[in-house]
Amino acid sequence: MKNILVTGGAGFIGSNFIHYLLENYGDIQVVNLDLLTYAGNLDNLADIREDGRYHFVRGDIHDRKLVEELFDAWTFDTVVNFAAESHVDRSITNPDIFLTTNVLGTQTLLDVAKKNWKLDPDDKYSREFKEGVKYLQVSTDEVYGALGPTGMFTETTPLAPNSPYSASKASADFVVRAYDKTYGMPVNITRCSNNYGPYQFPEKLIPLMINNCLADKNLPVYGDGMQIRDWLYVEDHCTAIATVLEKGRLGEVYNIGGNNERANIEIVKLILENTGKSEDLILHVKDRPGHDRRYAIDNTKITTELGWSPKYTFQTGMASTIEWYLQHKSWMDKIVSGEYMNYYETMYAGR
Ligand SMILES: NC(=O)c1ccc[n+]([C@@H]2O[C@H](COP(=O)([O-])OP(=O)(O)OC[C@H]3O[C@@H](n4cnc5c(N)ncnc54)[C@H](O)[C@@H]3O)[C@@H](O)[C@H]2O)c1
Repeated sequence: MKNILVTGGAGFIGSNFIHYLLENYGDIQVVNLDLLTYAGNLDNLADIREDGRYHFVRGDIHDRKLVEELFDAWTFDTVVNFAAESHVDRSITNPDIFLTTNVLGTQTLLDVAKKNWKLDPDDKYSREFKEGVKYLQVSTDEVYGALGPTGMFTETTPLAPNSPYSASKASADFVVRAYDKTYGMPVNITRCSNNYGPYQFPEKLIPLMINNCLADKNLPVYGDGMQIRDWLYVEDHCTAIATVLEKGRLGEVYNIGGNNERANIEIVKLILENTGKSEDLILHVKDRPGHDRRYAIDNTKITTELGWSPKYTFQTGMASTIEWYLQHKSWMDKIVSGEYMNYYETMYAGR
């Protein structure tokens, strides 16, 4: 890995990943292509703005001309695609942009990478690519649909997405697969469980609840709060992606998870306890339509084949997350205004 295109690097996981790259790889160039939608925040990268190895470009992954210009300028050997519309609730109210960005944007990146990396781009039968190039698609466990009380998602679980968001991510995964099967493109797909940690936009469960606790506002919990997710600290997701980039077998899918199943209500109560607030703040609101009940990741493949394992337990990860939000109140305050507040009203008013 020398010249890396990271897309969506101003978002939650992408910005953590860029920090991780710069801290752990000396001689690299990282180009962050991000459209700066409501979820993109350059404050997430303020501390590395002056690092000569980091370069920001504002733009759309679906803008083929721009992506071609970037490939011409940087001769990337690696693409890691985080860019996406990522919030399930928003996908329910406005699915169109999810398909445009998550599916067509992915196809644009793949196609430009193929053109640049194929040894003979004009020979449609050639499956030969330059040495050492790789496209990594950052996907999600939500593509597998929902589980009952038992069982886990493995890489061979059939895809059965239930929301417009997960349908768009599953569609993108199929496009990535097709570029491997049809053209022999060097790709990996990673499917991770729910992440938490620094720089997460406060529409997602954990930062939303921490923020509301600090402001003594109600904590809106969907339905009975017994939806179970498998939580992973974001830095562990970053180490897993780096491991797959370095050692992942081409064409393979790797699930990423930390064996940390927790009900939403359990997380909310933990945050209340850690911030010294009362459970009276909990407000049960009408459940999300089609809300998946349980996700759980079987991480056997990445742990046994590639030797990856998470460094954080749920306790250490949550403690450091809550501490980070307490210490970065101004980061949160800057976000919790304008568009986000309007959105918040639309999603939760009257529930
Ligand atoms: N958050 C999770 O728990 C989780 C778990 C598994 C997988 N994922 C996947 O990881 C990726 C990143 O998730 P996140 O939580 O950091 O999301 P996020 O919403 O915080 O960040 C997404 C970023 O993509 C950018 N973006 C959106 N549309 C774009 C476009 N057309 N062109 C360029 N940039 C664009 C946004 O500006 C933002 O910076 C997503 O693909 C998501 O599906 C997330």
